[in-house]
Amino acid sequence: MGVFKDVISKIEALDPLHSKKIHKDLAGFDDAFYQKADLFTDRFADYLKKKDKTLDYGIDCYLKMIADVRLESLHFLRTGEYTSKSFDEVNKRVYNNPEVMEYYMNGLLLSQFLWGHHYAILNYFTDNLPKFKDRIEHYLEMGGGHGLYISQAISVLKPGTKFDLIDISPTSIEASRSLIGNSSVNYMLSDIFKVPAEKKYDFITMGEVMEHVEDPVALLKKLGELLKDDGTLFITTPTNAPAIDHIYLFTNAEDIRNVIDQAGFKVTDEIGIYSEKVSKERAEKYKVAMLYAAFITKK
Ligand SMILES: C[S@@+](CC[C@H](N)C(=O)[O-])C[C@H]1O[C@@H](n2cnc3c(N)ncnc32)[C@H](O)[C@@H]1O
Repeated sequence: MGVFKDVISKIEALDPLHSKKIHKDLAGFDDAFYQKADLFTDRFADYLKKKDKTLDYGIDCYLKMIADVRLESLHFLRTGEYTSKSFDEVNKRVYNNPEVMEYYMNGLLLSQFLWGHHYAILNYFTDNLPKFKDRIEHYLEMGGGHGLYISQAISVLKPGTKFDLIDISPTSIEASRSLIGNSSVNYMLSDIFKVPAEKKYDFITMGEVMEHVEDPVALLKKLGELLKDDGTLFITTPTNAPAIDHIYLFTNAEDIRNVIDQAGFKVTDEIGIYSEKVSKERAEKYKVAMLYAAFITKK
């Protein structure tokens, strides 16, 4: 049995109910997926080792994140709202709380292979990014979190590309640094809204941040100030996805498209994957989370 299947067996022993969801998500995934997942798991184990931690610790972090999601989901199903209301609250509760942020980022990193919809969106990004290769001299990732997306970008973009990473959380900066290793990245510990406006990036990636702010239109406009006029922005954001640091509720893809439009961008390519294998009608009726991703450019 490969190391990734070992991880799933350990989760099965510790949280049998949750492991059913993982088995459903990964049903039908082929050997090529498990080979990639094994390579990822080895890398995750190395990354944890650098912090004197084991893979079992990484699994515990993941299950703590799942426990948080369960509590947040109860509140969401009862009230139709996320628990957190303001950025300041989340900044204290999560981003600048190293204990919480550490298990959260480790858990989120593992979810990129354990959750079918996270894996599909990661692939959508890595399959499409090479199309922009020749045009990218200066690349920014905003809100890198665990650092997996920028590390994928480093592996597909041309040598000599300059990489910047902005994140408000010292724990995220440190996690990205450990995952990326020796590649040269300019790490910037800052709130995005405090970064001086200067159009210098050919490409910006911002995964799962629009739902973390009070005003996602203002956030996209801010990125517009940093993006060259012919540049491209890759965004992902979920609908109906309760989590400890989610503030802004998108209820469907149309809500997200409206925000993109109001911020002065247009969608050039998009995808949306539900977190459960159900029809669109059922997903909308029962508020099943969807992860939306799009490549967008200035109008
Ligand atoms: C959920 S994580 C996303 C991780 C990764 N990009 C992904 O798609 O899985 C959100 C990240 O955005 C960062 N973040 C949230 N608001 C921010 C802000 N205003 N300025 C800079 N970083 C921010 C958080 O610290 C966190 O690392």
